[in-house]
Amino acid sequence: MAKAWTPSSWQAFPASQQPDWPDQGDLDRALKQIASYPPLVFAGEARSLQSSLAQVAAGNAFLLQAGDCAESFEEFSANNIREKLRVILQMAVVLTYSLGVPVVKVGRIAGQFAKPRSSPFEKVGDVELPSFRGHIVNSDAATDAARVPTPERLVQAYNQSAATLNLLRAFTKGGFADLGRVHAWTQEFVASSPEGQRYDLLAAEIDRALRFMRACGIDTETTHPLHETDVYTSHEALLLGYEEALTRQDSLTGAWYDCSAHMLWIGERTRQLDGAHVEFLRGVGNPLGCKVGPSTDAEFVLELCERLNPARIPGRVTLISRMGADKVEDTLRPLLRAVKDAGHPVVWACDPMHGNTITSTGGRKTRDFASIVAEIDGFVRAHHAEGTWPGGIHVELTGDNVTECLGGADNIVDSQLDEAYQTVCDPRLNGRQSLDLAFHVAETLRTAGLA
Ligand code: PEP
Ligand code: CO
Repeated sequence: MAKAWTPSSWQAFPASQQPDWPDQGDLDRALKQIASYPPLVFAGEARSLQSSLAQVAAGNAFLLQAGDCAESFEEFSANNIREKLRVILQMAVVLTYSLGVPVVKVGRIAGQFAKPRSSPFEKVGDVELPSFRGHIVNSDAATDAARVPTPERLVQAYNQSAATLNLLRAFTKGGFADLGRVHAWTQEFVASSPEGQRYDLLAAEIDRALRFMRACGIDTETTHPLHETDVYTSHEALLLGYEEALTRQDSLTGAWYDCSAHMLWIGERTRQLDGAHVEFLRGVGNPLGCKVGPSTDAEFVLELCERLNPARIPGRVTLISRMGADKVEDTLRPLLRAVKDAGHPVVWACDPMHGNTITSTGGRKTRDFASIVAEIDGFVRAHHAEGTWPGGIHVELTGDNVTECLGGADNIVDSQLDEAYQTVCDPRLNGRQSLDLAFHVAETLRTAGLA
């Protein structure tokens, strides 16, 4: 029988990947300040997301979770947020239209700052420095001083999350996400690229469908879902002090919610069953994710589902598979089977990024578009074989024209990576690669007879 949960009960469990804050007093002050601030999201919104995810778990909807590997304090602007949202909405339109099911949109945004690291030290050029842990902890500048964890950064991350969320809400409810604008989202690259032209054709079909609805007498002006949408927020719940400070009791139900984001996930490095991250998240009412990498076995997954979702609430747990393109089919199949046989109503999502990170000849951390596509294909094959629903994708992307991942429509090669390598952490798909990927996912699912 599990012990009673409280927002601080995680403190009695081993918490991996927590920064070594130099001054406990400074940390406590920052966390106290955040605890006194308003919640970023509301419990009711988290519950709406959970019911949408329940539809994904049942095979009636698709999850698109996407955004930065790590948000940056420096790259923080309206433009940047709008471009990221634009790509996510474009991908969602492609997927909705091609799959014929609702697409649940969840950003890695408005709080995706903290990074787990494989090693406490990293090499930058010839010098060894304490690892960069995300702007919520330290700076990515290459000096020892910059790498010291600074608690004021927690407060700055809260403030940036609030401003980002405010703009997201304005864009998604204030006209930008209007389906009548799908054409306008794409102007810049339509003429110049094949996936842009493909998108343009699809946008024209949507225009035609809207005209058809109007001709049938449907008042598209007053049909809300055509003019606004929901984009939910999510991040890896890594820094448990920060998450605890934003955990609030819902006045309506009495349940606890982590109000730092709608959905929180546990990373590959912190998913120990008896660790602090599982302990903390089991007690909050938000929908939860957990990364599952190639070392995962069925026994672990079943126990994880039991701990996080003993009541078997559909949509409560999303398992985010990140196996690597060459392993995904074989490693995933027994997990799919075990979860299905045990009757756990989970969402299965494919993160085709983190199992396919390589080092370029020039020493850059990168990913090849072909491996990303291959992992998604393997993921879909595994589901097809087991009779389960490949519920969604989880990707790192940006709306900007970066050169961080190899291949794709522009066929970015090794020697081009330096041209616009801007990420503060992992390599992201650029706008065109992202759109290309959405078309590919739609095609793969249709070919497999799943849509
Ligand atoms: C991430 O999502 O950025 C990440 C660190 O992933 P993982 O925990 O799967 O390695
Ligand atoms: Co990443």
